Amino acid sequence: MKAIAIIPGRPDSAGVIDIPEPPLADGEILVRTKLIGICGTDVGIARDGYGSPPPGEEQLVLGHESLGEVLEAPQGSGFAPGDLLAGVVRRPDPVPCGACAADEWDMCRNGRYVERGIKERHGYGSERFRVDRRFAVRVDPKLGDLGVLVEPTSVVAKAWEHAERIGARAWFDPKVALITGAGPIGLLAALLARQRGLETHVVDIVDSGPKPKLVTDLGAHYHSVPIAELDVSPDIVIECTGVGELAIQAARSTSPGAVVALTGISHSDRALRTHPDELNRALVLGNKAVFGTVNAARRHYDQAADALLGADRGWLASLITRRLPPADWPSALEKRPDDIKVVIEVAR
Ligand code: BGC
Repeated sequence: MKAIAIIPGRPDSAGVIDIPEPPLADGEILVRTKLIGICGTDVGIARDGYGSPPPGEEQLVLGHESLGEVLEAPQGSGFAPGDLLAGVVRRPDPVPCGACAADEWDMCRNGRYVERGIKERHGYGSERFRVDRRFAVRVDPKLGDLGVLVEPTSVVAKAWEHAERIGARAWFDPKVALITGAGPIGLLAALLARQRGLETHVVDIVDSGPKPKLVTDLGAHYHSVPIAELDVSPDIVIECTGVGELAIQAARSTSPGAVVALTGISHSDRALRTHPDELNRALVLGNKAVFGTVNAARRHYDQAADALLGADRGWLASLITRRLPPADWPSALEKRPDDIKVVIEVAR
């Protein structure tokens, strides 16, 4: 069968390869792949050599954002042929560490976890894949193709859940949210903010293209000014650009008691003159919490599937701005100005 694959760090190696049918060891449920979403992590794999193929192999099958239709599932697995599902990305480490033993592989303590399509395990980007029921997330048929957004939404569902848990260390009554970056993660974070009834502000550098309208259609406010010029005092910030400077500015601009979730990563090593003591003072005197968050536990995928089901389907559909046949998938690695989410149509 065909698969989309790459040698990490070698964008010129991006292509379609032939691989054997999915091994039984991957799981009891056989799935026909419908859509694969491409994100900044895939670009990082291609350009910066982030991630790695399975040991002893040169190429990595990509695809950590998946949607597929069940072909075969054992009785009692909770799935039947025709059902839609999305695959969980991470697998617990083999020790397992305390967090992985508690099914919180997103919080793995020893770094020996693997991730499908990213770290030492092939992804879902082949014509068929297998997955165990434990790592299969049911997608309501009402969502259809929009189920490909379950994985990126799981990342923001975790960020929101953890921000609220951290906020609950003391009296916490958040009213205002600030989201930095209006890419797919930022827009999905803004969706979850609005679903919580928060006054929501989204800041991004562009002032044209689809982003401003996508934000205002949520009932949120769009800004294309530097954070320091924003006249808002957020209780929760979800930083979705990975630009370290923005993380620092966001931490400064918040209300006392605020929680700042950092969800993005950048592969640059840009240097910046900064005033760490001033930041330290702002964090201490403001009781502020800044935390990093990556990946998602099983419950966050279920929260994500529910959040998507509660969202406007027309709005979700407008996040998918480009669909490519597998042969053209490498062009998904080149970001076009109006791209939000680019997906590969493995099968209709
Ligand atoms: C994925 C996560 C993954 C992270 C780091 C993100 O793009 O959505 O599941 O843990 O990259 O590899």
